[in-house]
Amino acid sequence: MRVVNTTIAHPPVTTELRGKIRVIAINHAPVNALSSVVREALLRAIELAEAEAQCAAIVLCGAGTDFSGGADIREFGKSGLQPTLPDLCARIEASIKPVIAAIQGVCLGGGFELALSAHYRLAAEDARLGFPEVLLGLMPGAGGTQRSTRLAGARPALDLMLSGRQIAGREALGLGLVDHTVPDGGVTDAAVAYAQEIADKRGVPRRTRDLVAGLAQTESNRLAVEEARAKAGQKFRGQFSPFRIIDAVEAALSTPFDEGMVNERGNFLEALASPQRAGFMHAFLAEREVAKAPEMRIATQRSVASVGVIGGGTMGAGIAVSVLSAGLPVVMIERDEAALARGHGLVDKVFGENVAKGRLGAEDKDQVMSRFSGATRYEALADVDLVIEAAYEDMDVKKQVFAELDRCCKPGCVLATNTSYLDINEIAASISRPEDVIGLHFFSPANIMKLLEIVVPAKVSADVVATGFAFAKVLKKVPVRAGVCDGFIGNRVLATYRLAIDYMVEDGASPYHVDKALRDFGYPMGPLQASDLSGGDIGWATRKRRAVTRDPRQRYVQIADRLCERGWFGQKTGRGWYQYPHGSRIGVPDPEIEAIVEAERQRAGITPRAFEDSEIVRRVMAAMANEGARILEEGIALRPLDIDAVFLHGYGFPRHRGGPMHYADTVGLANVLEDIREFEKDDAFFWRPSPLLVSLVKEGRDFESLNRSPLDAK
Ligand code: 3HC
Repeated sequence: MRVVNTTIAHPPVTTELRGKIRVIAINHAPVNALSSVVREALLRAIELAEAEAQCAAIVLCGAGTDFSGGADIREFGKSGLQPTLPDLCARIEASIKPVIAAIQGVCLGGGFELALSAHYRLAAEDARLGFPEVLLGLMPGAGGTQRSTRLAGARPALDLMLSGRQIAGREALGLGLVDHTVPDGGVTDAAVAYAQEIADKRGVPRRTRDLVAGLAQTESNRLAVEEARAKAGQKFRGQFSPFRIIDAVEAALSTPFDEGMVNERGNFLEALASPQRAGFMHAFLAEREVAKAPEMRIATQRSVASVGVIGGGTMGAGIAVSVLSAGLPVVMIERDEAALARGHGLVDKVFGENVAKGRLGAEDKDQVMSRFSGATRYEALADVDLVIEAAYEDMDVKKQVFAELDRCCKPGCVLATNTSYLDINEIAASISRPEDVIGLHFFSPANIMKLLEIVVPAKVSADVVATGFAFAKVLKKVPVRAGVCDGFIGNRVLATYRLAIDYMVEDGASPYHVDKALRDFGYPMGPLQASDLSGGDIGWATRKRRAVTRDPRQRYVQIADRLCERGWFGQKTGRGWYQYPHGSRIGVPDPEIEAIVEAERQRAGITPRAFEDSEIVRRVMAAMANEGARILEEGIALRPLDIDAVFLHGYGFPRHRGGPMHYADTVGLANVLEDIREFEKDDAFFWRPSPLLVSLVKEGRDFESLNRSPLDAK
């Protein structure tokens, strides 16, 4: 997070004459985004420098640590702001005096395009250059597609624009995207000296638009485009901008610069206006907004320099890996030496695989593992600052663990449980220091999944909550604040839409059709494939647990129980909704499942009917939005965007759809409510509309209207 000084009005661009060199600096904290005021000021500064008798060359740089984070994403959707970035870039490239870009820190998107329109580029070796537009549902729209292809060739240009990855100055030099690198900072000084040299030699501007070298339809360029198109069909299914990026590169290879620019601009504007861009952008802003919990403002976090993990199973080991990777020491507690050895082995295996894949050096692995220790006695936790309990999901087991933590941990130690659904208030109430107890709910595999639900029980102190958020940042996780209820945010909404799916399957939809419809919607895998991956036994245990309290009006579908009774728990047993022959990870549809489903329909007296893809998606999305609205009513989630972040980072919700609540806004809440009212005719208990949803529709409002940060209100 960057600090923004909002009290002093800074000019968006500053300039200074150093000898014969006019240094123009973008001065727009926090990331020097190219807002319209910046573009206007840059244009004026360039024109003045060009007309200035004393000025022989121009250096373009960023004030502070960065060159520029690109176009101002908060200005998207505002039309008519002049000058446009492509016009500004064209004006810079047309300058009659040489323009040298001095690149440090981030140089992304429109910032990179600005630098590419300069005549020469110097970059710090560790500068971070790239085109992240694709991650926002966009493409470079200020000449980036045309200039990068001309400078680096089609393959590197496509790689950068389709991945959105950032490259260091060193790599950019190798690709021909910058002319020189500067080892240790001081890039502006080096650029001034370089500009002076060019001016002394009466160097003339070297314009990328005029470059034709390597542009001819060489075999390698043609192949690069062809391969990118073939791969994109699978990788970017349903997305708009990646395909337009490929078209734009093809245009750069085959058409004059100005024609390529027209092509790029048209596609950029189309992408800008698309719901996909709005979805990506919502996701970008949501994942930053969730990290700003109210407690971060009112309390000071406790320091966390060492961590205890209770349990060395898959989850405990994954958490340990995550903490070790963040540079902290871990003490793992298991009940006996054998269990501890297994936990240690799991942790060691992950880092071993990283070494085998070349992501980690063997010595680095030794260094990381030297921070790992294990014990079978809780006394080993006497000095740790935070403990995460990842023991068996059973209230009595949890209470025993917490009694031990209460006995052995030092005062002020944060006591966290990784429970997925148990009542954390009850766990907290069972020990002498409920104010130290919090939920840190990781998602499996914990070392990979970005989501961390921070579950806030009634008695926890604000500084413990703030510590949870700060700790998430150290682990590079996306933290989302959740209240205590069965399943918190994610698993509660999941349980609801799984019911909607069970009902559809019993009513006539094939499980494989449901999975396909949701994959086509954008999920990487269907919900039943996901259930096979996580293990059907988990849901079975939950259903059994809930059986006693289940409302008799709730429809209950037994199909999944029939699978579990056969021991078909998914991938780990080789069979679930799909078959996994010979340990394969790709499931194949199973005719026996169809027979079981059919038998269950008959048992329930249901005459199956057909479902369109669109109805499957509508039912799942309506169930998510409705349960999401209930969670908001109950204060379990602070804002709709918190629910969106949970599904984007914990459940594979397609990013270009922005999350379930944003998607409901895109569809229109009135339409979602109309769907629910229609479904209610079949099952009035399950499809009761949430009062919040009803009132939002009545007032003509959307979920977005509830997304103001609780901090804004203060
Ligand atoms: N425009 C406006 N605000 C931006 C911004 C941008 N391009 N990039 C970041 N910000 C804001 C963030 O929203 C955040 O605001 P907040 O404090 O109110 O939450 C603040 O700047 C700091 O951002 P981060 O917390 O993300 O800071 P980091 O240091 O972790 O990361 C960054 C900095 C690498 C620049 C990261 O913010 C980022 O990736 N930004 C997006 C960059 C991007 O996508 N640029 C392309 C824009 S599209 C474009 O240029 C179109 C062109 O081709 C025409």
